[in-house]
Formats: sequence, structure tokens, C-alpha cells
Amino acid sequence: MKNTVLAALCAATFCGSAFAQSSAPIKVGLMLPATGTYAALGDMIEKGFKLHVQEQGGKLAGREIQYFKVDDESDPSKATDNVNKLIKRDNVDVLVGTVHSGVALAMAKAAKESNTLLIVPNAGADAITGPMCGPNIVRSSFSNWQPGYSTGVVAAQKGYKRAMTITWNYAAGQETVKGFREAFEKGGGQVLKDLNLPFPNVEFQALLTEIAAQKPDVVFAFFAGGGAVKFVKDYDAAGLKKTIPLFGSGFLTDGTLQAQGPSAQGLFTTLHYADSLDIPKNNAFRKAFALAYKQNADVYAVQGYDAAQLLGAGLAAVKGDLSKRDALAAAMRKATVDSPRGKFTLSPAGNPVQDMYLREARGENNEYRAVAVKALADPARGCKL
Ligand code: BEZ
Repeated sequence: MKNTVLAALCAATFCGSAFAQSSAPIKVGLMLPATGTYAALGDMIEKGFKLHVQEQGGKLAGREIQYFKVDDESDPSKATDNVNKLIKRDNVDVLVGTVHSGVALAMAKAAKESNTLLIVPNAGADAITGPMCGPNIVRSSFSNWQPGYSTGVVAAQKGYKRAMTITWNYAAGQETVKGFREAFEKGGGQVLKDLNLPFPNVEFQALLTEIAAQKPDVVFAFFAGGGAVKFVKDYDAAGLKKTIPLFGSGFLTDGTLQAQGPSAQGLFTTLHYADSLDIPKNNAFRKAFALAYKQNADVYAVQGYDAAQLLGAGLAAVKGDLSKRDALAAAMRKATVDSPRGKFTLSPAGNPVQDMYLREARGENNEYRAVAVKALADPARGCKL
């Protein structure tokens, strides 16, 4: 039956609101950074998300998708106002965001208070799938603990005993370093000192001088985006790359290799994705992404793509009927996501249980070397559902 005829019939009967609901587009609020040190990360998440929707013919579970966008600038002080633009002004059905842990914490609070669905496509803040966990919140990315922990496992296995860490002083840096320390110390290592600077500062010189003076066996770093580019180049320029191995969570070299040039070559990192992962889903994804956007995919694109896959799985379970929101949210948690990173499921707290890979930077790729930790689940400390 044509929509117009159905609408006319419905107008005279009880089915009017159901028809309007099921034919209206689903409103997706993308809250991502479009400016600042994480701008490129936000761009890749959006591209990945939209690629999956395009592959489904521009619809998920038969429903058109309408996008609403806010540039969050990776600024936690503006986060509550920004997320409320999407929740209260645009009245979105689902929030997708963001990159920066501090901003995402404010999003999670607002999502909980308004009972809005939230899919986090990057920010690793442990609390989101820890004390702040909720049935309406899931993540398509990682917890900060996961890449920190898996890098600590690898560094200890390599036999390093004395480490120094360096990062930005906010949730992502602090929690990633904590995860590293937990595994490194369990493996017999010792962290001599944690160095940090405020986000998004990139004046690394004094801290690099301190590393050179202490001469640890290994340095562990969390930086991402523009800051990671500058850090890796400065580490090399200071002459440290030749003398003290630099390890990091994979964000140190993801989406950044072209800009980092020779300074990044040979660096080992761990992450839940590797460019060269040779599985059919990743090969198809990278081909489709390159075709659509004339650039290579990275982990952020994967996480955006998988955020759309999670939403699609939830919507499919309720046949696109948003009035069954609780069932939709529960179905996202039960989904097995056929991701370019390999298949993954969500923990009860809503965080991916996933393989963590050891990668080596070669050319413009983070090449797969080994599984660092198989099916790593975040401990979800403090999550009560
Ligand atoms: C974060 O703030 O959680 C984050 C930012 C960039 C890369 C990874 C984590």
C-alpha cells in the first residue's frame, strides 16, 4: 500500500501515531570533535558510521537515518551544554559520541538522566562501563584499561623491568597508564615514575629530558591525534628512539603514521585493531572505505562503523520500532558484531570483549604481529546493573 493511502486510512483510526513513528527517520545525534587535536579522529568515526549506513542503503532496519551534529571541541567544560543541544533541542533518538573521555563522561551523565540511548564510538573512560554503566549505554570501542593492560602484558613478556610512563593528565591518560602498571607489575616489572602534562599541551621537552636522565628500560606513552604526532617526532628528535624503546597503546600511531614519518617506524603498540589484519571483513571494509573516501581507514573509522552496526542490530531486533527502546538496548548488548577487528560481543556492562593485537608500525600501516591478549574483558569495576 502506498504511504499516502496508509496515512489517510490511519488518520481516521487509532494507527496514526504508529504510522508516523515508524515512517519518520531515526534521529542520530553525532557529538564528535571537529576542531582541535582530536578533529581527525571525529572525522573518521563519522565516516565509518556513515559507511555502514550507506552499505545498508541509507537505512537501518528499514528506517531512514537523519543526522544532527555538534562539534564538542574535546572540551569537557562545554560538554553538558553541547549534549543538551542534541537531547533537548534536536530531540534525538540516539546519541553517538565521543572521542575525549572527559566529554564522554558528561554525555553518559546526561544520557542516564534523560534515559537517551548512547553509543560511545571511542572515549575509553573506565567509568562509562564501570560505576556509570547503564542499560541504555554501550561502547563500540574499548575501555582505557584494555589497551593499557595489554601493552603492560607485552612489555613484561619482553623482559623489561624498569618503565616510565608519559601521558596527558586526564581520564584517558591516567586510566591507560593504570592498566599498563597493573599488567607490568603483575609480570614482574616496576614503574619508576609517571610523567604527565595537561591536555592538549605538546611541550614535551622537559619531560623527555627527565626520561633521558633516568634511563628506564622502556617508556609507555598514551597520546592520540595531533599530540601523538608531535610526541613521536619529539621522542625521536631527542635521540631517545635509538636508546630507550617506546611502547604505547595503539593510539600513539593510529591514523598518524603519514604525519609521523620515519620517527614512528618500528614502534610497537597494542590495540583492538591492526590495519593489516587479514580477515575477509577487514579486507572488505578497508576496500570500501578507501573507495568511498579516498583515504585509508584507521581504528576510529572501525569504531564508527561498529557503532552503526550495533545500532543496526538493536533496531533489527525491534523491527525499527523505537517505542521498544528497552528491547532495542538489550539487543545491542546481545549482538555479535562482525567487525573489521574480528567478531566481538559486549560484556554485561556494555563494553567490547575483544582480542588485543600487538602491532608494529611499518610504512603507513600498523601491521599485525600477534594476539597480545585474547578476548580481553574490562573488569567493569563498580558497574551495578
Ligand atoms: C579518550 O579520551 O578516551 C581517548 C582519546 C583518544 C584516543 C583514545 C582515547
